[in-house]
Amino acid sequence: MTFFARFRLATFVLALLAIIVAAPVLAQKSGSDGAPNPTASVTSQRELLQQVPRITGRIDIPDTRASVLIQPAGRTWEYFHQVLLRWGGAIVIVGTVALLVIAYLILGRLPISAGRSGQKVVRFETFERFAHWLTAASFVILGLTGLNITFGKAVVLPLVGPDLFSDISQLAKYVHNFTSFAFVLGLVLILVIFLRDNLLEKVDIDWLKQGGGFIKNRHAPAGRFNLGEKMVFWLSIAAGIAVSASGFLLLFPFYGTNILGMQLAQVVHAVVAVLFIALILAHIYIGTVGMEGAFEAMGTGEVDLNWAKEHHDQWLAKKLAAEDRRGEPTATPAE
Ligand code: HEM
Repeated sequence: MTFFARFRLATFVLALLAIIVAAPVLAQKSGSDGAPNPTASVTSQRELLQQVPRITGRIDIPDTRASVLIQPAGRTWEYFHQVLLRWGGAIVIVGTVALLVIAYLILGRLPISAGRSGQKVVRFETFERFAHWLTAASFVILGLTGLNITFGKAVVLPLVGPDLFSDISQLAKYVHNFTSFAFVLGLVLILVIFLRDNLLEKVDIDWLKQGGGFIKNRHAPAGRFNLGEKMVFWLSIAAGIAVSASGFLLLFPFYGTNILGMQLAQVVHAVVAVLFIALILAHIYIGTVGMEGAFEAMGTGEVDLNWAKEHHDQWLAKKLAAEDRRGEPTATPAE
């Protein structure tokens, strides 16, 4: 064999070896369209998931959506759910609690300035309180069971272990789904019952001008609800509609939505839910520890006469005048 022939043979053998060694790598790196070949024996799952923007496969069930394993918006959504929502939600909720603690430390409990009169007036009828507590109780249940979806893996799982966490989460998921119906009923009742008293009036401007009663020793005029309460009402109705609509889209997947619609519904649901929880935390604060005499309104339905004079003077005046016209007893002595 001549030197030239030997050189040609060596080159051929080297090229053959190179092809044998490189073939699986090439197969992994580029399919016919430049994507990794998912069936290549050395394809790593991680690489597959990370490198390609979209992974689809062949399926033999009628639902073609199931053939998409990964798509670009899915990664954005995953980042939102695993990172942005967790951090954003934690900051908003913990931040609100911190602000309320600071408010309490600075303002303390707002007292009834004139002290208790010893006389009671009816503020909310039984059915009005039923509508409020139906909405409030279902809200708390939805909030806790929903937050388990957002934070459970980070907060509850390390405390209780995987088995119990899995049982808790499964139960919480069912409770969340079914409590939604009670919440919607409560929301509709609240809207119907309290709509009229939450329309804007001229007195709301005066209430605002006078610092909403937060300036010491000055009580701002108000009707049945003051401007602050009206804002809580309208924000709650708007947030309630948004979480209900997006929640039902999640509850009945792909009825009128595609995968993008589902992702959007989840983002709206989670963001509005977190803001809604912050709003209601402030509402709970002012209705309990933040203000003397306020809780009784939704507790027993009756408030102290002086509390009513200080916080809802115009409502009280109209109420007493109407009862007077009907010849009914007005304020009753407290038991
Ligand atoms: C009609 C009312 C509601 C319906 C139908 C509903 C339904 C749902 C559904 C189906 C999910 C997804 C569960 C899953 O991923 O498997 C969810 C998640 C969630 N819900 Fe609701 N929900 C409603 C109201 C509320 C309310 C009032 C709150 C807050 C107080 C809330 C807070 C949450 C939270 C925080 C999540 C978890 C979001 C996430 O991390 O992905 N929901 N809801």
